[in-house]
Amino acid sequence: MEQIIRVLPDALANQIAAGEVVQRPASVVKELLENSIDAGATEIKLISIQSGKSLIQVIDNGKGMSPIDARLCFERHATSKIKATNDLFNIQTLGFRGEAMASIAAVAQVTLQTKRDDDELGTEIIIEGNEFKGQSAVPMNSGTSISVKNLFFNIPARRNFLKNDSIELQHIIDEFIRVALPNPQIAFQFYHGDRLLYSLPEATLKKRIVQIMGDKVAENIFLVEENTNLIGIHGFVGKPHMAKKKRGDQYLFVNNRFIKDAYLHHAIATAFEGLLPEGTHPSYFLMLTVDPQSIDVNVHPTKTEIKFEHAASLYAILASAVKRGLGQTSVVSQIDFQPSSEFESYIQSVPQQSSVSPPRTSANPDYNPFQNDPSYRYRQEQSAKNWEKLYQIEDIPDEDPIQKALFQAPEKGPKADALAGTNSFFQLHYTYILAQVKSGLLVIDQQAAHERILFESFKGMLHDSGIPRQKCLFPATFEVSKSDALLLEAHINDFIDVGFELEIFGEQSFIVQSVPTLLENHDPIQFFQEFLHLFKEKGAHEVSITTQLAKSMAKSGAVKPGTPLQQEEMSALFDHLFACETPGFSPFGKPTVVTLPLTEIQHKFQP
Ligand SMILES: Nc1ncnc2c1ncn2[C@@H]1O[C@H](COP(=O)(O)OP(=O)(O)O)[C@@H](O)[C@H]1O
Ligand SMILES: [Mg+2]
Repeated sequence: MEQIIRVLPDALANQIAAGEVVQRPASVVKELLENSIDAGATEIKLISIQSGKSLIQVIDNGKGMSPIDARLCFERHATSKIKATNDLFNIQTLGFRGEAMASIAAVAQVTLQTKRDDDELGTEIIIEGNEFKGQSAVPMNSGTSISVKNLFFNIPARRNFLKNDSIELQHIIDEFIRVALPNPQIAFQFYHGDRLLYSLPEATLKKRIVQIMGDKVAENIFLVEENTNLIGIHGFVGKPHMAKKKRGDQYLFVNNRFIKDAYLHHAIATAFEGLLPEGTHPSYFLMLTVDPQSIDVNVHPTKTEIKFEHAASLYAILASAVKRGLGQTSVVSQIDFQPSSEFESYIQSVPQQSSVSPPRTSANPDYNPFQNDPSYRYRQEQSAKNWEKLYQIEDIPDEDPIQKALFQAPEKGPKADALAGTNSFFQLHYTYILAQVKSGLLVIDQQAAHERILFESFKGMLHDSGIPRQKCLFPATFEVSKSDALLLEAHINDFIDVGFELEIFGEQSFIVQSVPTLLENHDPIQFFQEFLHLFKEKGAHEVSITTQLAKSMAKSGAVKPGTPLQQEEMSALFDHLFACETPGFSPFGKPTVVTLPLTEIQHKFQP
């Protein structure tokens, strides 16, 4: 036999190629929706039956096709979107390969109806498993309707390979969202069977996010906006407490195309460093606009990967934009700090009505822990203990101080008198600080707020001048595993920078000679264990040692719930909190402040 190489018949070639583009019903949904968007539609309707296995139909009001194009669009590599090689480097549309329609027609029974605005009649084409079945003229509205029936009817192996209906439906929903989110200017409807799953009227990006994700996200996302000549960024990011255990709501679009990019994802995640509870992931809905010539979307047929020309710069710009958005979020931007006079007199009367009396404390009433510089007290020798000393509650033995504060009988103490003065802070259950602002009532979580203040000030100190250290009277010795020992050794200088003097003592042992003054009352070994744990879990580059140390110190130093505060202390806490870079959240991602808008309070009093 001379010739063993054969050219495959078109139909078979198409079927094989279709395997790449059409993996499951959701792939059809994606391709059809993208075609509608490329056709300039402003209204798109998606209908699926039996999770797309029986029917997927997309109806749009886009520009339609001529009868000739309607026939041509099923040819492999037939596209109206690129003409020459150069166009490949300047792609403005979602499609460009001219493969989808041919692939879909190769593995399903397809009916296409399409009409341009200027045409009297539309064209209908029926094609099944690549076999042309007929073309006729039909009366219809302008636009295009494509129905794809019995996917993989001619490839039973592929059909059997599909997952159960609920999984396939989930894939369809995912694709639908990836298209609907970045196109809020387009109205979408999605029917599964006769159930209307999504009805999304034209909206802004923020409204579209809310339409899809639910009302609750509205107040839990913040705006991120940046325009440089390399990149435009517009979108919303979930506040830290919206972070999820599973990586779910992470949407990154480049020139309206959904992409997955571990590198840019990392840029967003770093902006949250020190803010997210462990093991959680930030949510984001970000649209990036870059010069089409600076990216290569030609990496993968299903096109969720992109190569960037200026990846490193994009990384830096994205990280800083998210960080800035985070810093400006919630509290600061929403609150108007002008007090209003009616409210002033109201709040003055509150402490007298309060039935709670603070327990006596050994506090020096003139002492202000936040005086001048938040770090000032830590420069003094005894400083770290001051909070605890100051708020040592003498007459509350072992029961929960908050509970006690809640249920104690009314009694007039010196503190209650002080509170009844002219100041405008009120402490609720020794846990929250209430303050008035023009728009309503602020409720500050004293512990979370203090953690934020301390965290930022420690971080600053660690960064600038290093932290005062204290020689240990009794140096602590500890032993670790061999691999941990190597890790510690590698970071020994970092530890010195933050005030730990660590000496290598044998192959797997260390001696702690000095500790940061702030931690003199803490078990240093516990800190090293925590560090090791973090290093191993996240990698040293993700969690900086300074951040981690600042976090732990803030946690141990912050005022706890159940601690009575004086007016000056509350006022200082308030001032310092709002001088922070990220006042809205504790370093562990807890909100520090909630606002009760006056309107909401008024609303509650409506009959
Ligand atoms: N909904 C639609 N409205 C108008 N034209 C369409 C539509 N769907 C497909 N087409 C035409 O069919 C061509 C082929 O589509 P497709 O196979 O998806 O390739 P691509 O989108 O990569 O160009 C498109 O280039 C476009 O001209
Ligand atoms: Mg296409």
